[in-house]
Amino acid sequence: MESAFYITTPIYYVNASPHIGHAYTTIVADVLARYHRLRGCRTFFSTGTDEHGEKIVEAAGKAGVTPKEYADTISAQFRDLWPELAVANDYFIRTTDANHIETVRRILQKVYDAGDIYFGQYEGFYCVGCERFYMEKELLDERCPQHETVPEHRKESNYFFRMSKYQPWLIRHIEENQDFIRPERYRNEALAFLREPLEDLCISRPKSRLAWGITLPFNENYVTYVWFDALINYVTAVGYPDGENFRTFWPVAQHLIAKDILKPHGIYWPTMLKAAGIEPYKHLNVHGYWNVDQSKMSKSLGNVVRPLDLKDKYGLDPFRYFLLRDMVFGLDSSFSEEAFVQRINSDLANDLGNLVSRTMTMAVRYGNGRVPEPTEAAAEDRILKETAARVVAEVEACFAELGLHKALIAIWEFINVTNKYIVEREPWVLAKDPARKGRLETIIYNLLDALRITAVLISPFMPDTAAKMMDQLGIVVAQDFESIRNWGGLKAGNELKREDSLFPRVEFKKEEKKLEEIQKAVSPPPLKPEIGYEEFEKVDLRAAKVIAAEMIPKSNKLIRLTVEIDGERQIVAGIGNDYTPEQLVGKSIVVVANLKPAKLMGVESRGMLLATDTEGGLTVLGFDRPPATGAKIR
Ligand code: ME8
Repeated sequence: MESAFYITTPIYYVNASPHIGHAYTTIVADVLARYHRLRGCRTFFSTGTDEHGEKIVEAAGKAGVTPKEYADTISAQFRDLWPELAVANDYFIRTTDANHIETVRRILQKVYDAGDIYFGQYEGFYCVGCERFYMEKELLDERCPQHETVPEHRKESNYFFRMSKYQPWLIRHIEENQDFIRPERYRNEALAFLREPLEDLCISRPKSRLAWGITLPFNENYVTYVWFDALINYVTAVGYPDGENFRTFWPVAQHLIAKDILKPHGIYWPTMLKAAGIEPYKHLNVHGYWNVDQSKMSKSLGNVVRPLDLKDKYGLDPFRYFLLRDMVFGLDSSFSEEAFVQRINSDLANDLGNLVSRTMTMAVRYGNGRVPEPTEAAAEDRILKETAARVVAEVEACFAELGLHKALIAIWEFINVTNKYIVEREPWVLAKDPARKGRLETIIYNLLDALRITAVLISPFMPDTAAKMMDQLGIVVAQDFESIRNWGGLKAGNELKREDSLFPRVEFKKEEKKLEEIQKAVSPPPLKPEIGYEEFEKVDLRAAKVIAAEMIPKSNKLIRLTVEIDGERQIVAGIGNDYTPEQLVGKSIVVVANLKPAKLMGVESRGMLLATDTEGGLTVLGFDRPPATGAKIR
């Protein structure tokens, strides 16, 4: 067995609130950490937030606050969410932490001194959503393949990391270490990137364009590129270069990510480590994407699933169970509330919940409220013992290759064998015959011990349920993984506590979320600083009538509107995800009429319409009585 286990999640961008995608990765990391702790392995689990870069500056600007204020608010949302989801991380890192800033500068200086950072010119297509440059051939229809936006063409002088130098080494390392990147499909994807010559990595941004970042130690007019900064979090968290945790938990580190950030983790990070003289991590574990009802989750579609909504509605352990049971690690999965409810009713209420309540009811009814002595074993009991031993071994094998859903399938096989054992042994028949008391007590003992083993096996996945089961079994000493290798570990004489059912059945009611509900649930961004009336007066708001509207070709959501204010004029609005052009024609809307003209995708906009922007989508401001066209609004 490994002596130390270090697991990390990506550090999440603070430009949006947490959703089930973030919850999935972090819960998987938690399950792995809990499993290793259960096996007595020294374990360290780190997560956190990624706070520098253009994306955050943009989001903060929209909210009218500074990047640091914005990062503080959203980072706290992530930090506070994890305990609510029973995620027990050992460390929470923020890239704005002083120790992290120092580590990034130290590593940059080291790589610079070694001659692997040089100054040069860069020209390329930058996607702010991804915070990375794309080569022209990587774009799809001139758009970023992830965000479907048109990246900006940029040319500037910057510092470069000599990533290309490490390409032959990295190819060899991936080839020699079959499970360096896993599952295999992602290893192949990484090798496919490496079939092309690797370009050097641009690792700086001039402060004249972006000041929100870590200043380079060798030129204070530049900040560090956000990925070079963020990846280093994994060594900061364990106290690189001389912390005790670094000695214990590096290089056994395992990273957990989704497929969206394979390239930075599979290519940039190992080469950065190599250049800095740090051994590569042990595994990069890559999972697929959660979609929602077969569509990509997105703010504009209004289908972002928030973890606490599901926890509040259905309970935490069902939520954790569903995420882990329904996604095959490495493949995409589609979330649907209906499928979730079915799982709760079949696997949790029917199989596990029933097993616990039937067993506890019989144990209390036929005994004296204590775990009985097993005095009359019989050959027919072998099925339980053998299944337990096989399932324990299978669960271990599944964990070793991240088959968490398979581990749950194996555990459920044991639960089903135990349920069948009840039906076949018919304890209620034996209870009628005093001469068979010894046999009845043995059967009850076996069932209770099966519950103990089940509780230990599910504890990494559903810690609350496992604790409740232990409590009902009167177990006060924490059980470790070794304790379930042997049958008969439950102490006779323990006092039993029968409790209400663990998982009540739930009904699925298809309810359309009302817009008001969604809007109420979204916490509004902080207010901007006060302004005087004179300042407000400078903004000329007018009632305008939409005369014509059409989508702008090649854009996802830009609509060109012809509006009447003081005559006709053209404005462009990014509302095409929420409105069709036809819905807008004839409407009276509110327009900022004295905004300087601007060009959006080459189309001039003379003014801006007003709309609310929430996770439910955009709502254009209107009037409850038709106003006079051009009327002033104050
Ligand atoms: O990429 N399904 O941060 P991020 C499954 N800051 N997992 C999902 C998901 C989905 N639909 N959406 C997001 C960043 N995730 C960088 C990382 S690390 C040094 C820097 C999860 O906030 C998944 O783990 O965009 C994915 O890799 C991560 O969130 C991306 O988080």
